[in-house]
Amino acid sequence: MSTGLQRPPAEVRYAEELARLRESDDGERPPGWALSLTAARSFVIGDDKLGVSRKFVGDPSLIDRALVSLATDRGLMLVGEPGTAKSLLSELLAAAVSGISTLTIQGGAATTEDQIKYSWNYALLVAEGPSPRSLVAAPLLRGMAEGKVVRFEEITRCPLEVQDCLLSPLSDRVLAVPELTGPESMVFAREGFTVIATANTRDRGVNEMSAALKRRFNFETVFPIPDLDTELSLVEAEATALLRRSGVGAPPRRDVLEVLVTVFRELRQGQTARGDVMDRLSGVMSTAEAVSVAHAVGLRGWFLRGEPGTAADLVSCLAGTAAKDAPEDLAKLRRYLEQQTAGRPGAQWRALYESRHLLPG
Ligand SMILES: Nc1ncnc2c1ncn2[C@@H]1O[C@H](COP(=O)(O)OP(=O)(O)OP(=O)(O)O)[C@@H](O)[C@H]1O
Ligand SMILES: [Mg+2]
Repeated sequence: MSTGLQRPPAEVRYAEELARLRESDDGERPPGWALSLTAARSFVIGDDKLGVSRKFVGDPSLIDRALVSLATDRGLMLVGEPGTAKSLLSELLAAAVSGISTLTIQGGAATTEDQIKYSWNYALLVAEGPSPRSLVAAPLLRGMAEGKVVRFEEITRCPLEVQDCLLSPLSDRVLAVPELTGPESMVFAREGFTVIATANTRDRGVNEMSAALKRRFNFETVFPIPDLDTELSLVEAEATALLRRSGVGAPPRRDVLEVLVTVFRELRQGQTARGDVMDRLSGVMSTAEAVSVAHAVGLRGWFLRGEPGTAADLVSCLAGTAAKDAPEDLAKLRRYLEQQTAGRPGAQWRALYESRHLLPG
């Protein structure tokens, strides 16, 4: 299915899978949910029998706990290192539970209550005064009125006072619209309304949240993928799909990806597979970054030479990811290529070592 969009929301990308799950779903559904917990879980972690793909790689018990939290009267807070698929997971959960993942607030220093709750159509406001017609619902109000999951991305990047406007929607399940009169001045949440928030432990931690708001969420930590093979398969699948979408005619080479993922893991952990301890990069070397470097490597190979990318392309693409946070990271990366990649078995490790001078700077 081609929508012409770069990245349609999950409920569009996986519309067929969702329809199939709905059809075969005979489990009990919590009030307001589009699927039962079991079907929602299958949507996220996959089900071979139903032809549902695995979308999030990780501990299935995390998904169970997350879904149970969503069925309680608390919100769900996903915390973790950057690039561990917190946003992806929140999108998938919202699509499974509510059938819609686009009631999303993007948190930032400049986020205002208007962008979270509601604002006004000024022409109508001036002409008619405040009325339900001149009210423009933002994600929180819509989610409450329609009984859907509201996503709040990077919540800790918002000012504390702004975050706190979630307090009464989460505890009393009501949002006041004081400008209106009569029954319209209170929006009561329908069954199915809840909030999934994400927060990154690197930017501003979860300490940047009021204790009152923290008590209204169940916290779940999303960890990086623990083993090499799982991470490698994920990077391969994602990079293959991205390259196909970018018009690249050759899938990425497995041996190149193996070197790439190993390099990312070693730089992330500060330890080589052989057990040598080395400098960790201060920048983020997440799976999400590995996917994007694999994409860039494939593009370079194909559009510059008409072949799949190689380890030499990897050296050229690494600097832009590995050395963005601190200038010392480039020096650490250079030291790593110099000292740790010589003499490893395989043509791609050799190519990586021999191309080390391509590192810019
Ligand atoms: N466990 C995982 N399962 C599936 N995809 C993963 C996983 N870890 C990383 N990814 C990859 O990372 C991408 C998602 O990153 P996402 O933006 O959701 O991370 P994030 O944790 O929200 O990062 P940030 O903190 O920077 O916002 C996915 O599209 C996928 O390619
Ligand atoms: Mg995110």
